[in-house]
Amino acid sequence: MSTDKNSTGTRRDFLYVATAATGAVGGAAAVWPLINQMNPSADVQALASIEVDVAGLEPGTQMTVKWRGKPVFIRRRTADEISAARDVALGDLPDGADRNANIPDGDASDANRTLDEAGEWLVMMGVCTHLGCVPLGDAGDFGGWFCPCHGSHYDTAGRIRKGPAPENLPVPTAVFLNETTIKLG
Ligand code: FES
Repeated sequence: MSTDKNSTGTRRDFLYVATAATGAVGGAAAVWPLINQMNPSADVQALASIEVDVAGLEPGTQMTVKWRGKPVFIRRRTADEISAARDVALGDLPDGADRNANIPDGDASDANRTLDEAGEWLVMMGVCTHLGCVPLGDAGDFGGWFCPCHGSHYDTAGRIRKGPAPENLPVPTAVFLNETTIKLG
């Protein structure tokens, strides 16, 4: 009797050990894809920065490119758009202090937000800071961008002027590689 018990117990132990081992292997197999997904693939790394040819942009027009899954507005501004943006006092801006990490001096002055000293080139994320809609260009009460979702108006520097959006359109890391190529990221 006791031999049977021992024998049964031994088989159960074996089954238990076998199951535990299988469980451990299964667990490791399940974890691997998750860990693997955390390593950016070559595709994702390539998308971390992109180069955009802006040779075809005339003053007063803009292009939208997709970068890291989001729209980016690249606008070549007219002299009127530049002066309209530069004539605004920071104190009149709801987000005049600008919390954007890529704004070097910590305020939303037009010179801080533009890519070149003359202020002709403006690069911004095309994502409304209210709830993430894509604003329309050449629109709104301030001649810049207008978000039709809930009525946010941005000026010609992409700064929020009216409506529920709490912050200016974010400025991404961008630089001119040469006269006609902008690198994002
Ligand atoms: S998402 Fe743009 S105003 Fe609400």
